[in-house]
Amino acid sequence: MESSNLLRVAAFMRDRESAASLSAVSGAMSRARFEIYSGSLAQALQASAAQQSPDAVLLEIDPQEAENTRDSVSVLGEAFPGTPVIATAAGAELEYTRLLMRLGVLDLIPQPIEHHELLSVLDDVRRRAKRLTAPHRPPSRVVAFLKAGGGCGATTLASQTAVTLATRRTQKEPEVCLLDLDMQFGAAALSIDLDDRVCLNDLLEARERIDGALMRSVMGHHESGLDVLAAPRALMPLDTLTKEFVGDCLALARAEYQTVVLDLPLAWTAWTFAALKQSDLIVLVAQLSVSSLRCVRRQLQGLQEHGLGGIPLRLVLNRNDRSWGAASRRREAEQALGRRFDFTVVNDERTVREALNRGVPVAKVARWSRVNKDLRRLADGMALALAGGSEVLAVPPKASGRVAMSEAR
Ligand SMILES: Nc1ncnc2c1ncn2[C@@H]1O[C@H](COP(=O)(O)OP(=O)(O)OP(=O)(O)O)[C@@H](O)[C@H]1O
Ligand SMILES: [Mg+2]
Repeated sequence: MESSNLLRVAAFMRDRESAASLSAVSGAMSRARFEIYSGSLAQALQASAAQQSPDAVLLEIDPQEAENTRDSVSVLGEAFPGTPVIATAAGAELEYTRLLMRLGVLDLIPQPIEHHELLSVLDDVRRRAKRLTAPHRPPSRVVAFLKAGGGCGATTLASQTAVTLATRRTQKEPEVCLLDLDMQFGAAALSIDLDDRVCLNDLLEARERIDGALMRSVMGHHESGLDVLAAPRALMPLDTLTKEFVGDCLALARAEYQTVVLDLPLAWTAWTFAALKQSDLIVLVAQLSVSSLRCVRRQLQGLQEHGLGGIPLRLVLNRNDRSWGAASRRREAEQALGRRFDFTVVNDERTVREALNRGVPVAKVARWSRVNKDLRRLADGMALALAGGSEVLAVPPKASGRVAMSEAR
């Protein structure tokens, strides 16, 4: 791409009419120059050979002709290796969008092409190019959310803090992503009102040719700038995922994003172990109940026994009750665990339920609430730990500590 930031786009439209509509929309763009061709792709490619190679290719396709689309995308891949391909079509169904994604197409712009949609896709191309050429990109970081028992609030805390981290970015780059690897019961995308029809399953089906562009294309985009990979809707066995596949996904996510947040299932498997091993920070979410505290101990022990005890860990007490009695129960729990809770998030059913029902961040429901303050503190703590700030390593629980509380629920 030229230093002036002018984006060159070669557009291959099916006929003169659609070429004219594109010309009407793209003509006013000051930061992009379009070479628009119409008619047969073979002839258009010949004509385009005389031009400087483009930064992106736009291809008009017919959703009724899947085979033709496959051929055209592969011909373009050969003609412009490494150049992002954007598709445009009228009335493409979801199935068709999936096909495009598998073919490595960066995005689909529905027709009639709207000026703002074209702008947004081109911005994406620009960001990609910048990322690929960025000289000193700081290393990316992975935060894994683990839970001490089902329903502790791990997904809520993971999605809320991921939104906060994404919102804080100075540029609106989607540099924070949340991968919902709780593949059987994951609901991270829905918790912030993102479509989960394209999901982890699509990445799995395309595992042979998974790359950064493909990974981005299966993400839901939240307005905060957060990208979310949804868990599959259908129930699938946990061992559908392998440690090799999860390793590849994490490597790609690290290459594409600055911060990668993982929502992991409760069960330990070879691939969850592999994911934890690659993590720079573990956030273990618990509640103040006997069963959850037992689970904290098991998780901490498991981490130690599997050689993961050196990974910085933050223990979060969610749904914290702020009454005096609860404070003494918390201290008892901390004694039994042999470590303190690093963060607490207050129990606020009304606010959290409303945020989840509306699919919006808690900050939008009750900005000045205690729960929002606690979530912000947790996000701050995560950012600090990821930046290498004062680390509190997972302290092994005392072997003799009994997990029992006087008024345990
Ligand atoms: N701080 C909180 N105050 C009140 N309710 C909360 C809080 N955090 C989470 N919840 C509620 O707890 C329930 C479970 O939350 P969530 O789905 O995030 O837990 P999870 O640990 O991911 O569960 P799962 O085992 O299903 O993955 C949700 O209904 C959510 O509204
Ligand atoms: Mg969950």
